[in-house]
Amino acid sequence: MSPQTAKKKTATKKVSAKKSSKKRGAATSKDDVKPKLYASLVVQLLSLLKGEHDFIANAANFSALLFSSLPNVNWAGFYFLRDEELVLGPFQGNPACVRIPMGQGVCGVAAKRCETIIVPNVHEFPGHIACDVASNSEIVVPLFDGERLLGVLDLDSTMLGRFDDQDAEGLNELVTVFVAHEERLGL
Ligand code: SME
Repeated sequence: MSPQTAKKKTATKKVSAKKSSKKRGAATSKDDVKPKLYASLVVQLLSLLKGEHDFIANAANFSALLFSSLPNVNWAGFYFLRDEELVLGPFQGNPACVRIPMGQGVCGVAAKRCETIIVPNVHEFPGHIACDVASNSEIVVPLFDGERLLGVLDLDSTMLGRFDDQDAEGLNELVTVFVAHEERLGL
């Protein structure tokens, strides 16, 4: 696995390590900030989704929740897989490129590899697509319906190194909740 990628498995492993260090009283409150924020976002997302059947409306509210709740994020939204390319979905932030071929840009690479990708410095990522010139770091999380790739969730930040394994784990949990809700509604 490349150092720029973070699979769910890796992030889960980290949590176990943190829990055991907590028992020894070694965990600092800083370690808990992101997990607590993501736990609260899961509750808020479930509340936003409750009883609502419209996929676009739900994806729009999900992106707005992330954009308004996560610090130092200048773009948050979706690209959905349509005929072997990614097409822009609901998002918050500056207008963005509409179509991204599989394997191109951070989104296309994450979709092709079916992996979460954390990019600490987008200017060092070969083929990065700059939708907002202010963006300096990025995380892209693929969405699956079982084995089928649905698209990706993309977040940008003007901060270098904004995203880490805790973000990868939290965002993967959120997209799992989102897709599970849509599946239960038969979408
Ligand atoms: N930077 C992305 C393109 C999408 S924008 O960030 C919204 C990429 O390289 O795929």
